[in-house]
Order: sequence, then structure tokens, then C-alpha cells
Amino acid sequence: MKAVTVTPRTAGSSELAEVPEPDESEGSVLVETLAVGVCGTDMEIVRGDYGWAPPGHDRLVLGHESIGRVLDAPSASGLAAGDLVVGIVRRPDPVPCYSCAAGEWDACRNGQYTEHGIKQLDGFMRERWRAAPDAMVSVDPGLGRLGVLLEPTTVVAKAWEEIERIGGRQTWQPKTALVVGAGPIGLLAALLGVERGLEVHVVDQMESGLKPDLVHALGATYHTGRLSGVLAGPDVVIECTGVPRLVFDAASAVGVGGVVCLTGVSPTGVRVDTDGGSLARSMVLGNTCVVGSVNANARHYRAGADALARADRDWLSRLVTRSVPLDRFSDAFEHGPEDVKVVLELAR
Ligand code: BGC
Repeated sequence: MKAVTVTPRTAGSSELAEVPEPDESEGSVLVETLAVGVCGTDMEIVRGDYGWAPPGHDRLVLGHESIGRVLDAPSASGLAAGDLVVGIVRRPDPVPCYSCAAGEWDACRNGQYTEHGIKQLDGFMRERWRAAPDAMVSVDPGLGRLGVLLEPTTVVAKAWEEIERIGGRQTWQPKTALVVGAGPIGLLAALLGVERGLEVHVVDQMESGLKPDLVHALGATYHTGRLSGVLAGPDVVIECTGVPRLVFDAASAVGVGGVVCLTGVSPTGVRVDTDGGSLARSMVLGNTCVVGSVNANARHYRAGADALARADRDWLSRLVTRSVPLDRFSDAFEHGPEDVKVVLELAR
């Protein structure tokens, strides 16, 4: 069968390859891949900056944002042929550490976790894959291929859970949220903020086009320009770009008692000239908190699936700006200014 593979840490090594059918040792449920979303992490792997092949292999099958259809499942699994499923990206470390033992692989303590399509486990950009029943989640059949948005939604479902737990350490009545960046993660973070009844503001560089339209369609407010001028003292700031300057601006922008959540994986080696004293002073005097958040566990997959099931389908479908057939896979790794989510189509 066909798969998009890459030699991790080797730029320009991605190719459409012929790979063996998934081995039964990978799990009892056989899934046909319908579509796979492309994100910044995939681009980093394709550029040769990230990623690990499975032990004993040179190449890694890419792809971690999946939607697939069950072809075969044991009856005791609770799954049946035809069900739509999304593969859970991260798997617990083998030790396991106490977080992985508790099902919180997103908080793995020893770094020995694996991730489909990223770290030592083949991903979903292959025509078929197998996994254990508890390594995938079912999605609302009504969502159809839009279930491909679940994985990025789990990332923000976790971020919101962290924000609410931290904010709730004291009496907390949040009203406003500022989202930095109107890419897929930023837009989905805004969706979950609107679903919570918050007044949501999104800031991005694009002056016009789809991004502002999507923000307006949510009932949120769109801004361009400097973060500090957008909104006075938001209760929540979710930073979705990873741009180091914006990370510091986000930390400085939050209001008293507020929570800043960082979701973007920043480049390293970038120096930011900042007034550290005034940032630390505002954090202490304002009881604010900055938290980093990565990945998602089964609880966040369920929360993400619920959030998508509640969302407007037309709005969700507008997030998918381009669908690329498998034989033109490399087009999916080229990000245009109007692209929000680009999806690779594996089966009709
Ligand atoms: C994925 C996460 C993963 C992270 C780090 C992100 O793109 O969505 O599941 O944990 O990259 O590898």
C-alpha cells in the first residue's frame, strides 16, 4: 500500500512509498485512512528539523491528524466496520512513568513516550493502519471527514482544561479571552472559548480574507496590530503562534488573576529583548500564571469530540482550505497565505 514517508532529520526526503500492510501486532482494529491533516509539526519534520523513525528503521510514515473508517474490529472492542475513528497520537512510555500509568501520556515524565507520525511510531499517511481499540476514538458520524479536525481540537481542549483548572484556584469569573494567531489552533481555541460563553478576541497579521471572516462568523472580534493595544487585561490569553516575541507580549497582556496558555512550539535560538522586571512584577502583583500545554490524553479527545459535535458544520468545513490527493502529497506541505488547514485525501 502507499504511504508518505520521510527520513527524519533529512530535509527533502519525503516521498510516496510502497510500504507493507500494517502488522497485526500493531493492534486488533484495522482502519482505512480517509484523510490526514497537515500541521506545522509535519512541516518541521519535512524540513528535517524534527521527528524520529521507529527503532531499527530509517524512515517514518508521516501524519498524526487522522480520520479513518474501521474495516475490521473484534466484537468486544465496541467498534464495528464503518465507524469513523481518529487515532490517538501519543502512546504511553513502556516503563511506564506515573503519568503514563495514569493514562496521562500527554504529561509523560521520562520522555520515552511515542507519537504516531512524529516520534518512533509510524503515522497515518498510509492507506491502512492498525491500533488497539483504546488507541483511537470514535467521532460523530455526522461530522464525516471533518473529524480530521479532532486532533488539533484535542490540543486546545487540553489547553482550556488547564486554563480552567489554574484559573479556578481562586474565585474566578472569566469574561474575556484573547487568542494570538488565527491558524487552525487559534481558530479552534476561539471556537472553544465562544462555546464557553466568553467574549473572544483573535489577533493575527492578515488584514483581510478568510481568517477575519471565520473569526466574525464565530461571533468573536478580529484584530491586527500590536497585542498590547487589543484588549485591556483579558482573563485568558492563548498563544498559538510560538513566535518568541509574541509569547512575551502574551504574558504581559493578561489581566489580574488571568491565565496565559502557550500552545505553539517555538523555534530555539531567538533572543527577545524584554523588560523582564516589569513582566515578573506584573505576574506577581497580578497573581497571573503562564502555562505551557502539549498533546492530549483520552479525556481531551472526548472533550474535543464533544466540542466539534456542537460546532457549526459549515464553519468547520471552511477551516479546510485545501484538499490534496495522495499522488500530489508534496503540494500539501506548501502553505499559502490563505491556507488554514490543508488535508491530504487518502480515500474517497
Ligand atoms: C501534535 C502533538 C504533539 C506535538 C509534539 C503537535 O503537532 O499535535 O500531538 O505532541 O506536536 O510532538
